[in-house]
Amino acid sequence: MSTLPLSRERPTVTDTFGRPLRSLRISVTDRCNLRCKYCMPEEEYTWLPRETILSFEEIAALADLFTELGVDKVRLTGGEPLLRKDLSVLMRMLRRNPRINDLALTTNGVLLAEQAQAFYDAGLHRVTVSLDTLKPERFKALTRRDCFRQVLEGIEAAARVGFKGLKFDTVAIRGYNDDELVDLIEYGKGFGGEVRFIEYMDVGGATDWSMDKVLSRAAMLKMLSQHYGPIEQVLEESSAPAQRFALPDGTTFGIIASTTTPFCATCDRSRLTADGMWFLCLYATEGTDLGQLLRAGASREEIKARILAGWQARRDRGAEQRKELERVGIRARLVEIERLRQDPRLEMHTRGG
Ligand code: GTP
Ligand code: 5AD
Ligand code: SF4
Repeated sequence: MSTLPLSRERPTVTDTFGRPLRSLRISVTDRCNLRCKYCMPEEEYTWLPRETILSFEEIAALADLFTELGVDKVRLTGGEPLLRKDLSVLMRMLRRNPRINDLALTTNGVLLAEQAQAFYDAGLHRVTVSLDTLKPERFKALTRRDCFRQVLEGIEAAARVGFKGLKFDTVAIRGYNDDELVDLIEYGKGFGGEVRFIEYMDVGGATDWSMDKVLSRAAMLKMLSQHYGPIEQVLEESSAPAQRFALPDGTTFGIIASTTTPFCATCDRSRLTADGMWFLCLYATEGTDLGQLLRAGASREEIKARILAGWQARRDRGAEQRKELERVGIRARLVEIERLRQDPRLEMHTRGG
C-alpha cells in the first residue's frame, strides 16, 4: 500500500493486494439502443437522471486526475457510448492528455459506421465491438432490435477507416450461440481482428443468469480443438482479462473466463459511471461519488486524495467471491430486480460492460 514513484511522471498507487491503479473504464451514458438478454433482459429500466450526467469537460477533468495517479489506459463504454452525441469531441479532449497512452472504445457497433472516421481522426487507438452471433434472426432474438446489418456495416467501416487490431467480444451462452464459435473466429480473421469469448457473468442486471447457461472456458476449448486441432495458450504477462490462445494456423483468439477462472488477483481496473460514481469492481455495490464532489466545487487535490485513499483501501475481488459461493452451492443472480430499479448504478449497463 504505497505511492511509489515509478518515474517522475507516473506514480504507482497500489491497493491492499498490491494491484496498481492503471485502467479506467468511463461509461459516458447508461442508455443503450439494444436489449441484450445477458445484460438488459427487462422491459423497463430506471435511468440515471439526465441532469446528473457529466459533461465531456467534467469527464476529462476527472480523467485527468486519475492519470496523475497512474492511470494510463482509458476505455469508453456505456450503455452504448455512441448514443452520446459528438463522442469524438471527448476523444479529442482525452487525447490531449499525454499520460493516456491507450484510448479504447467498447461499442455494440450499431452507430459505428457513421462515426468511425471521426473517431479515427480524433485519435482513438482501439475499438472493440460486441458481436454475439452472425445470424440475423438470432441477433434479433438476443438483442430485441433489428440492427444486425448496421453492426456489420459498423465493423466494416472501422476497418476501412484504418483501425487495426479490432476486437470482437462474444458472450458465449450455452444453448444460444455455442454453435458459432468457429464461425466467429473465421469472421474475425477477415478483419485481422481477434475474437474474445466471454463467459456469461452473474453481474448486476444479468437477471436471466444461471450457472447452467455458462459455457466454460474448458468447454469452449474442447469444442474449438475438435474443429481446429491442438490449441496452444499464448504465454504473456498481462493484466488484461483475456487469456489468449493460438490455433494451429497461428490465428489467435481470447477467452475471458471471469466466471469459472476469475482474474481478480491482477485486476487494475476501476469504473466511472456517466454520473461520476467511481466503482472499484464490476461487482461492487458501493462507490465514491466523484461527480458530486466535482460539482460541489472540491479542489483537484481534494478529489485526488479521495481517489488515492479509495484505491489504497481497495479489497475488491468480486468475481472470486462469486466463485466461492458456487462452491457452497448458493450462486444465483447477484441483485434482485426490485433493487436494480431503485439503484440503476448496480446495473452492468450503467457501469460499463
Ligand atoms: P483490453 O484488454 O484493453 O482490450 O480491454 P478489455 O478486455 O478490458 O475490454 P472489454 O471492454 O473488451 O472487456 C471485455 C469484457 O470483459 C467486458 O465486457 C466484461 O464482460 C469483461 N470484463 C472487463 N473488465 C472486467 C473486470 O474488471 N472484471 C471482470 N470480472 N470482467 C471484466
Ligand atoms: N456477462 C458477460 N459479459 C457481459 N457484458 C454485459 N453483460 C454481461 C454478462 N452478463 C459485456 C459484454 C458486452 C459488453 C457491452 O458487456 O462483453 O459485449
Ligand atoms: Fe476486478 Fe472485480 Fe472483475 Fe475481479 S470481479 S476482475 S476485482 S472488477
